[in-house]
Amino acid sequence: QDSHAWSGRFSEPVSELVKKYTASVTFDNRLAEFDIEGSLAHAAMLNKSGVLSDADLAAIRQGMSEIIADIREGRFEWSVDLEDVHMNVERRLTDKIGDAGKRLHTGRSRNDQVATDIRLWLRAQIDGIVGLIAELQTSLLDLAEANADTVMPGFTHLQVAQPVTFGHHMLAYVEMLGRDAERMTDCRKRVNRLPLGAAALAGTTFPIDRFYTAQLLGFDDVCHNSLDAVSDRDFAIEFTAAASLVMVHLSRLSEELILWMSPRVGFIDIADRFCTGSSIMPQKKNPDVPELVRGKSGRVVGHLIALVTLMKAQPLAYNKDNQEDKEPLFDTADTLIDTLRIYADMMRGITVKPEAMRAAVLQGFATATDLADYLVKKGMPFRDSHEVVALTVRHAELQGVDIADLSLEKLREFSTLIEQDVFTVLTPEGSLAQRDHVGGTAPNQVRAQIARHRARLAG
Ligand code: ARG
Repeated sequence: QDSHAWSGRFSEPVSELVKKYTASVTFDNRLAEFDIEGSLAHAAMLNKSGVLSDADLAAIRQGMSEIIADIREGRFEWSVDLEDVHMNVERRLTDKIGDAGKRLHTGRSRNDQVATDIRLWLRAQIDGIVGLIAELQTSLLDLAEANADTVMPGFTHLQVAQPVTFGHHMLAYVEMLGRDAERMTDCRKRVNRLPLGAAALAGTTFPIDRFYTAQLLGFDDVCHNSLDAVSDRDFAIEFTAAASLVMVHLSRLSEELILWMSPRVGFIDIADRFCTGSSIMPQKKNPDVPELVRGKSGRVVGHLIALVTLMKAQPLAYNKDNQEDKEPLFDTADTLIDTLRIYADMMRGITVKPEAMRAAVLQGFATATDLADYLVKKGMPFRDSHEVVALTVRHAELQGVDIADLSLEKLREFSTLIEQDVFTVLTPEGSLAQRDHVGGTAPNQVRAQIARHRARLAG
């Protein structure tokens, strides 16, 4: 039976195992509507160039709109015998409209067709992702705004370092996500170029107008070399790399949420709807969502490695290897989109516990640097003040108290430059207030950054 477009060349049908092994329709059928969009633009271009008649174009449009309806209503039966989404759609079109359907593939190959479909699909994903990143940034900004004055310990080496505000800490993630959105938008420029017209690899003998097709599909440009057009998957790798970074950022935040929610730390609580219990331990409330995000970041980074490895030894131009680009790419977008959605919602369900954060600041000599800076402002060289404060901290630690708890007389034993005004800089609030410059943690700087981000997101 002549089920394949190329059967004339072969003396026996492909084996069942090979058919299954080589087919992609089980996963690439999600490209169907983009495939049809590309086909309609290609047909319109052929018609404008005088290659396809008005009647054929009209028939193709009619047939394709029926196919779209069939797909949306779940009536379209995908056949593994027809290998992939492209041949399934084309065969159905021909079944519906006859010869006009068979003329659609004039001047085209599945090689430029699939590259076009993926780019159309990915462009739509990127636009959605950029919107979702903005949504997550907004929920982080709300949390930052409510906590612009909330003192928490800033850590280095996971040890209390200096006081920051919880708002400032949230803004660090808003920055990361801002770069992520920039990377996505930049990647989109290279996604948004048209491969169609490259045909199998060398171009076509028909008088095509690639810029017209590009314009119909909303592409900014065409791919200017036919060999590169069909074999380039840089854009998919770039997207997956950008997606990996988003996931890495959210994995870092997840790690922090998990730590902060641990009863040993108790800085925050996560709303019940994002947590699950234990089947054995009745007291448990586990931060499953952040843990899964941390886990899924590995999966997306894995897809990046898969795609880079997929491309590294392929000679020009198209090779069937490229069919393996789809599942990692699809799963990357799906995982990222689900993660961004759930994260925006989860951050709205965070309860902050300011007393626990403040208590932690008071336990770690977090204002030792402030005392050193204070002495510098009174005339002592920094290296000397660093030493003086180290001795002060050592004494306080032996006494089991904070340096702010030492009396003025005691402090003056370490340096007579110390006066009554020292106590304002030794409180967490005093420490914060003094870091009053762009990028610093002073509450008014945090508020200024929130306003800057909000203005950018609104414009
Ligand atoms: N399903 C194929 C893919 O995803 C379409 C292109 C097939 N081209 C070919 N020469 N076999 O890459």
